[in-house]
Amino acid sequence: MSQALHPMLNTAVKAARTAGALINRASLDIERVTVTAKSHNDFVTEVDQAAEAAIIETLLGAYPGHGILAEETGRTHGAKDSDYLWIIDPLDGTTNFIHGFPVYAVSIALAFRGQIQQAVVYDPSRNDLFYASKGRGAFLNDKRLRVSKRSRLLESLIGTGFPFRKGDNFKRYLKMFEEVMQHCAGLRRPGAAALDLCYVAAGWYDGFFETGLNPWDIAAGSLMITEAGGLIGNFTGESDYLYQREIVAGNPKIYAQLVSILAPYTRIIKDDEASATAPAGSAAVPDATAAFVASADADAPAAAAPKKAPVRIRKADLAKAKDDDAPF
Ligand code: IPD
Ligand code: CA
Ligand code: CA
Repeated sequence: MSQALHPMLNTAVKAARTAGALINRASLDIERVTVTAKSHNDFVTEVDQAAEAAIIETLLGAYPGHGILAEETGRTHGAKDSDYLWIIDPLDGTTNFIHGFPVYAVSIALAFRGQIQQAVVYDPSRNDLFYASKGRGAFLNDKRLRVSKRSRLLESLIGTGFPFRKGDNFKRYLKMFEEVMQHCAGLRRPGAAALDLCYVAAGWYDGFFETGLNPWDIAAGSLMITEAGGLIGNFTGESDYLYQREIVAGNPKIYAQLVSILAPYTRIIKDDEASATAPAGSAAVPDATAAFVASADADAPAAAAPKKAPVRIRKADLAKAKDDDAPF
């Protein structure tokens, strides 16, 4: 690495490499790894758990006063009231890992007062380290990343993720898939969202969309994209996407074209709609992280988080997809 890294990023890199070494060792004898189903099609292995423990130990060893939001242990570790929150996916792409399909990664982001400041995504099977600090660019190993320059969706390569959990709305996804497919040059689904976002930052994909992702899947990759000159948001083009379970990203031109296709499929309940339906006297969500952790129903439509940035993209007709919002 040619430039001096921010000390917090340095710690995250150390944690990610430690977890990556553990994952690489386990991948040599994958048959011995114990796999447990968290729910239908949603797996966790002892490697996910060991990697998460190693990451948390490294991060809290350096910053004992910081908070932790991690996929396998939630908010059980770290401070509960810190301005700093580490958001961790110890092994993104567990299904690939279990099958020996070498597309998986460790993802670690640091948010300060809700804004992602530092990010690492480490692909241990290629020894590829993606990293970014807010305002200082995104890198793959030593190379500065820039999003692609392609301006026509018709010529673009787009990444996505398929819904696969019980209760996911497959019908709604298939409609989006069909529309995007007909307007682009190709669609890819490698199976690790954190890497998908890095591929947008690297310009390998021109855009990406997925529903049902959690903050640990996207926190680190989102900073890679913005630091590489790209945009990321929810289906209506707003930047409050971290806890909203729908995401679209791309270079600015392709992002705009994807938003105009995907906006009708949004499930976000807007502030104005939410306040129109909220019981009198009900309070606004004070803290999106707390609301996310408290929400037991992972498939419920996401409530709009407090507004942070203006809408970038004109709204498409939201009515279009309203007739198809129920799981089949
Ligand atoms: C999964 C991957 C996948 C995405 C899933 C995620 P996990 O993460 O990112 O690409 O489609 O929604 O859950 O469970 O392997 O960490
Ligand atoms: Ca994940
Ligand atoms: Ca994971």
